[in-house]
Amino acid sequence: MTQNYSLSATVINASPHQGATQQVSSKVAQLLAGKGFRVSVLDLYTLNIGECLGCFSVAPEKCTYPCVVSDDMDKVYKALIDSQAAVFVTPTYWVNVPGKLKNLVDRLTSLENNGFLLEGLIAAVIAINQVGGGWEAASWLAGVLNMMGALIPPYGIQVFYPRSLQNHLEKCLGEQAREYWGDRDLTTLADNITHLCSLKIREHNFGFRKKGDQTL
Ligand SMILES: Cc1cc2nc3c(=O)[nH]c(=O)nc-3n(C[C@H](O)[C@H](O)[C@H](O)COP(=O)(O)O)c2cc1C
Repeated sequence: MTQNYSLSATVINASPHQGATQQVSSKVAQLLAGKGFRVSVLDLYTLNIGECLGCFSVAPEKCTYPCVVSDDMDKVYKALIDSQAAVFVTPTYWVNVPGKLKNLVDRLTSLENNGFLLEGLIAAVIAINQVGGGWEAASWLAGVLNMMGALIPPYGIQVFYPRSLQNHLEKCLGEQAREYWGDRDLTTLADNITHLCSLKIREHNFGFRKKGDQTL
């Protein structure tokens, strides 16, 4: 794909092990790279991310950027500020995201409170579940990201049931199912992210971010 606009995307893999979440993260990264994005995949469980200390609740000015907790969130902040798009891929833990990802989201308050630095970020959420709760996890996360100014693209909220869907598809399609699982939805998402990024969405003023707060 030819383009004259430098595109960066962050894929956040919120699973502690190699499974469906990790597979979907890799697939999304591969699709976006194929579209010309410079992609960073952040494996959350390799990062040291402490809890939010709730400074904002004491007084908004106490919630600073950089955050008073100095740890690997610095890498996450930088990646998200420098990206036009982010895709969060997460397993479902008790009808929500794993605690590690919840910590990350709480710590994003620092970006919200110091110039709305996520405003205009194109953000998609994919939750993997076995029996249920993925929708709740995905819609919670997408809702919070949207409250922070992120833009959720069409087909930007996806819920996968890897085992039951795979069994069903294999019954219907046999061998072909191996190629099919999730591909169409993820390809469509990558197309939509690329299209929105080509509109330079991240540079628009959506409300609160002051011009010059970041340099995309
Ligand atoms: C602590 C914990 C809580 C879970 N809660 C749910 C749940 O609420 N709903 C569900 O369908 N699966 C639940 N699961 C299963 C995982 O979401 C499921 O295995 C998912 O496919 C994991 O993806 P991964 O193997 O890529 O990490 C839970 C698993 C763990 C370890």
